[in-house]
Amino acid sequence: MTHGLAGSAGTCLIAGCGYTGARLARSLAGHLVGQGPVLALVRSAASAAALACEGIQAVPTDFDGTAAFPVPPDLSAVVYLAPPAGPDGEDARVRRFLSALGPARPRVLVYVSTTGVYGDTGGAAVDESTPPAPADDRARQRLHAEGQARRWCEARDARCVILRVAAIYGPHRLPLDRLRRGEPVLRAEDSGPGNRIHVDDLVSACQAALARPVAGVVNVADGCPEGMAAFTARVAALVGLPAPREVTWAEAQGTMSPGLLAFLRESRRVLTPRLVRDLGVTPRGPEAGIRDSLEEMGLMGGSPPGEKTTAEREGR
Ligand SMILES: NC(=O)c1ccc[n+]([C@@H]2O[C@H](COP(=O)([O-])OP(=O)(O)OC[C@H]3O[C@@H](n4cnc5c(N)ncnc54)[C@H](OP(=O)(O)O)[C@@H]3O)[C@@H](O)[C@H]2O)c1
Repeated sequence: MTHGLAGSAGTCLIAGCGYTGARLARSLAGHLVGQGPVLALVRSAASAAALACEGIQAVPTDFDGTAAFPVPPDLSAVVYLAPPAGPDGEDARVRRFLSALGPARPRVLVYVSTTGVYGDTGGAAVDESTPPAPADDRARQRLHAEGQARRWCEARDARCVILRVAAIYGPHRLPLDRLRRGEPVLRAEDSGPGNRIHVDDLVSACQAALARPVAGVVNVADGCPEGMAAFTARVAALVGLPAPREVTWAEAQGTMSPGLLAFLRESRRVLTPRLVRDLGVTPRGPEAGIRDSLEEMGLMGGSPPGEKTTAEREGR
């Protein structure tokens, strides 16, 4: 596997090579310029074996344990995609990973964070200049991890890009099971805007962050915030399932999981000026993103009206 870092043929390490990371690895392998190898790190032997089956070199290692992995001597870039873990609002996982890199001096570290660090703004807009206000332990861990990534890069004169990412959806990450089980959604009147990004647009953002001379925080969302009810109804209509039943916030307390309720409680509108201007990524809207996802899953047939899918736009 090779990647397309401008002016460098060193190894790109993808730490936490799961749903997004595997698509990034495949995409980097398709680059023709400035080729270098890709090395994927995952926690389980099963994930490493699945990546290896695709020709992606992968090593199983646990950042919560010894974090033992071979650091490529020609390491030129790191993309970190593992979720945070650690007590007291700190991310001990990323600290162990960075420490395991030893004296390595890559040119760039891309840390994949979340828009959760902005906390609940009651639906108000946030951009990269908005001060973070994490509202729960997980968001505090994220902010702590961002700080660690930044300081690690400063000490090595490496470029640091922090991608604050909205909810990731894509093939096999759509609320199809919820729809098939007939689970309700929170009605629009009771929910704030939800922010999402199609996984392949996130992959494009990661690639641009590796290749372009950009540093600092970049928000990654599709710029089309819509609540749970609207997004789920879109999926239902496109896949041919009945529209979900809408419930009030009070009714949702008894039917939805604590995790989903916590997610729905926070509301903000994520603006992405740097994604478009500095990374050159214009994400697809939800209609095209859902169609693309269903098409890849073989659940979409015929020529869709309205927005074109990515395959159509690219003449595939
Ligand atoms: N899902 C969302 O809506 C969303 C939104 C914003 C940001 N994010 C963040 O974006 C990043 C990428 O998301 P994703 O959905 O692509 O993640 P994912 O599919 O869950 O992949 C995470 C990867 O990290 C590895 N990993 C987890 N714990 C590890 C450990 N202790 N040591 C070594 N590797 C470990 C996993 O290995 P195994 O495969 O072996 O388990 C997996 O390869 C994550 O940090 C996620 O929290 C997600």
